Amino acid sequence: MTIVDLFKLDGRKALVTGAGRGIGRVMAISLAEAGCDIGIFEKNLADAQNVVAEIKKLGKKAYAVEGDVTKKDEVEKQFAALAKQLGGLDIVINNAGVCIHEAAETTPEEHLDFVVDTDLKGVFYCCQAASKIMIPKKKGSIINIASMSGTVANYPQKQAHYNAAKAGVILLTKCLAIEWVGYNIRVNCISPGYTRTEMTVKLSAPEMIKQWESLTPMKRMADPQELCGAAVYLASDAASFTTGSDIIVDGGYTAM
Ligand SMILES: NC(=O)c1ccc[n+]([C@@H]2O[C@H](COP(=O)([O-])OP(=O)(O)OC[C@H]3O[C@@H](n4cnc5c(N)ncnc54)[C@H](O)[C@@H]3O)[C@@H](O)[C@H]2O)c1
Repeated sequence: MTIVDLFKLDGRKALVTGAGRGIGRVMAISLAEAGCDIGIFEKNLADAQNVVAEIKKLGKKAYAVEGDVTKKDEVEKQFAALAKQLGGLDIVINNAGVCIHEAAETTPEEHLDFVVDTDLKGVFYCCQAASKIMIPKKKGSIINIASMSGTVANYPQKQAHYNAAKAGVILLTKCLAIEWVGYNIRVNCISPGYTRTEMTVKLSAPEMIKQWESLTPMKRMADPQELCGAAVYLASDAASFTTGSDIIVDGGYTAM
């Protein structure tokens, strides 16, 4: 088998959460281009259905279900439904996430719950639901989307709850990698730096974006496509000895 063959994902079944837009959308399309059929678990069903249509044009099967990663029972039920429609589940990308910019000293409890429930507990529920399908098959690759904000504090915006949740995702990933190594389930995460999506560009003032770009050694934000090589690698057999890793894709931000 050549190294090119090891990267191929033909016939694999992949589920991506929050793939209605942004990073999740581009990762779902990239996995389809690499050969996967795709299931999308998304809060915004209309967006997810548009992505399903894009993937079908690539000649791959695609399905969308409406769901909220903060609801444990819904996650379990809908992951099982997608796996049934896909005819299996080889790859899960836990991408759905939210961010709020606010000072820690005045963060209301409901915002803390919203961010931690979505970005940390949601990933835990999704990993649990994936494991229930993958453990009996003794095979799987789970990829959690953490953030460089799980490793460093951001500047100038304040987002302590988000960063703490993302740091939690990185350690959760390592713990699950070790817990599930005997089931042949690899668990890794990708930590993006500043990336052009609705979460960042549409919700942030142009001056803040300029500041982020100047603080990034490459002097720009990422296009979501630039994160997808890491996702295809982690999903594929090329990563057969890679588990418990955090691949940081941040234009050099955390290297400083
Ligand atoms: N954009 C960045 O600069 C950046 C950097 C580092 C990490 N990330 C992480 O990457 C992931 C994707 O970010 P993005 O920039 O594409 O965000 P985005 O806001 O553009 O897209 C997020 C998607 O997740 C969905 N979603 C949100 N909450 C959900 C829930 N409870 N259940 C199901 N779906 C839900 C949304 O409907 C949306 O389609 C997030 O986990 C984010 O924290 C983003």
